[in-house]
Amino acid sequence: MILYYKLNIMFTILQKEVSSILSSENSIDSKLLAVCSLLKENIPHYNWVGFYFKNGDKRELKLGPYVGTPTDHDIIPFGKGICGQVAESNENFVVPDVQAQDNYIACSISVKSEIVVPLFKDGENIGQIDIDSDTPDPFTAEDERFLEFVNREVAKIL
Ligand code: SME
Repeated sequence: MILYYKLNIMFTILQKEVSSILSSENSIDSKLLAVCSLLKENIPHYNWVGFYFKNGDKRELKLGPYVGTPTDHDIIPFGKGICGQVAESNENFVVPDVQAQDNYIACSISVKSEIVVPLFKDGENIGQIDIDSDTPDPFTAEDERFLEFVNREVAKIL
């Protein structure tokens, strides 16, 4: 219970820091990278944090700024994996146990769970934030609300 409250306070503090990072004068990519680092360093169950964006007119996602173990999956076709499914569904995808998913692309053996939240610009699904966790079933509605906030803030600078 105490941990739960601590995490909610952390999300509130981090919202302000995310807005502050995104309002700086740096390049878009360096700001997105700073947001990834902020989240990974401060939220214990976030072990890989990255953005994927629609790759031009192609029905595929391209990896953007990220922090965590390097991944081979810099291009993901729509419909493939958790990320590719979110590109088509336009909905959050919370995966408590990645091993229970058929349509899942493994990036690292240590990953137990994942959350992907779509990023909308002018109503269009143009990308997503992807979090991998080494903890089983750690994501709650608070993670979803927080990551939706992050994506709304990011959309403003794109
Ligand atoms: N697991 C994702 C692939 C991206 S990695 O997590 C960085 C998926 O199934 O789409």
